[in-house]
Amino acid sequence: MKISVIGCGYLGAVHAASLASVGHDVVGVDIDAAKVEALSNGRSPIYEPELPELLRAGIESGRLRFSTDMSDVRGATVHFIAVGTPQRLGSSSADLTYVDQAFADLLPHLVDGDVVVGKSTVPVGTAQRHAGSVEARGARLAWNPEFLREGFAVKDTIEPDRLVYGVADGDTYSVEQLNEVYATAIASGSPVIVSDFATAELVKVAANAFLATKISFINAMAEIAEVTGADVTKLADAIGHDKRIGRKFLNAGVGFGGGCLPKDIRAFTARAEELGRGESVAFLKEVDAINLRRRERVVELVTEELGGSVFQKKVAVLGLAFKPDSDDVRDSPALDVAVRLNGLGAKVVATDPEAMPNSRRLHPQLVYGTTEEALADADAVVVVTEWPEYKELNPAKVHRMVRTPIVVDARNCLDADVWAESGWEYAGLGRQVRNGRVTT
Ligand code: UDX
Repeated sequence: MKISVIGCGYLGAVHAASLASVGHDVVGVDIDAAKVEALSNGRSPIYEPELPELLRAGIESGRLRFSTDMSDVRGATVHFIAVGTPQRLGSSSADLTYVDQAFADLLPHLVDGDVVVGKSTVPVGTAQRHAGSVEARGARLAWNPEFLREGFAVKDTIEPDRLVYGVADGDTYSVEQLNEVYATAIASGSPVIVSDFATAELVKVAANAFLATKISFINAMAEIAEVTGADVTKLADAIGHDKRIGRKFLNAGVGFGGGCLPKDIRAFTARAEELGRGESVAFLKEVDAINLRRRERVVELVTEELGGSVFQKKVAVLGLAFKPDSDDVRDSPALDVAVRLNGLGAKVVATDPEAMPNSRRLHPQLVYGTTEEALADADAVVVVTEWPEYKELNPAKVHRMVRTPIVVDARNCLDADVWAESGWEYAGLGRQVRNGRVTT
């Protein structure tokens, strides 16, 4: 099929490259000339496993190209809208400027029989608002939310857990077209759910609200564990064995961040309030508050471990990305912890395998270095993103590098026993401090 993808950010670039990889002829359009240039040369503007290979293969095959010129969508019959919907400045609601602009720019190029497919995460009601102008061009509108996780974006796009198509009443044509777009995924077992626009829009925010709630639930349990002497990691294992609950997304720690969960739960709350149903999702404000409290708790824990003040103490902050396998620092709890400690006068040296350039752009005031530079003579070590290289650190070796063997495991990703046995004072979130410190 001939397909266009409007917006070549995280979502659009991955979507365009993935569709080309399954045999479609794809043009990606973006207003950012530098991004288009990078993508056209097979360079990924984001760190995402498998994406560079897919981009290069697509471009070499001639099935994938990128452009800044919207008229290049002509010839395509299915047009995906994959632009961003960031949080509006000074508000909780979503900023729809880019979505509205994408529709406005695309409309003049639509011809009879085209299908426009919204992929962006939008407040419920957005599709209905645009359906009329698309239909006036003889085209159809569908909404097909994306559920990709950063770090697994290619896999999640090529083999999605499910496909959701929101279509207008009786629009079987758009369903057929989307089935053809996703023929490979459907053949390998991805289920398809066809719904109205509102349901499709809500599926996305409901899924993210549920995931955020699950994380904040276990982090709330961590808060209780901290004052009762319980261990939240064992609690999570135990309740996770109940198949109705499941162990996934029950990792207590510094909480969620990234480009989706925080802004999506806020936008959902704002939209529900507009609809007069604020109370239905009022709990999401609590979910957000619990999440933000965990960052504060990490700073508090480091302070306690350092005897009441971090001032002039060297703190090694391991991790800046909002999660491993990503260079994304949008709303990153890790970066936030580094900034807060720095603001309190600690001598922070922060490090990350991929996210240092993005962090530096946002926070040039921080000192960045290699893992070795961060650890050298540190008074405390804080692990804030569970990159494999931090999980695999050898505690005995690191012990010889630091000044004081104090580790705050803000992701509960280290083996507390092994670290304590190697002479460390180990402090996790929602668990008791292990004092294995050997004073010399
Ligand atoms: C999320 C959704 O998973 C995805 O379906 C949606 O399309 C976009 O938002 P992503 O932001 O890539 O994807 O990350 P995800 O893997 O969901 O993690 C989100 C955050 O939650 C991370 O900061 C992660 O560290 C945190 N998290 C996750 C926890 O704190 N505990 C957990 O148990 C799981």
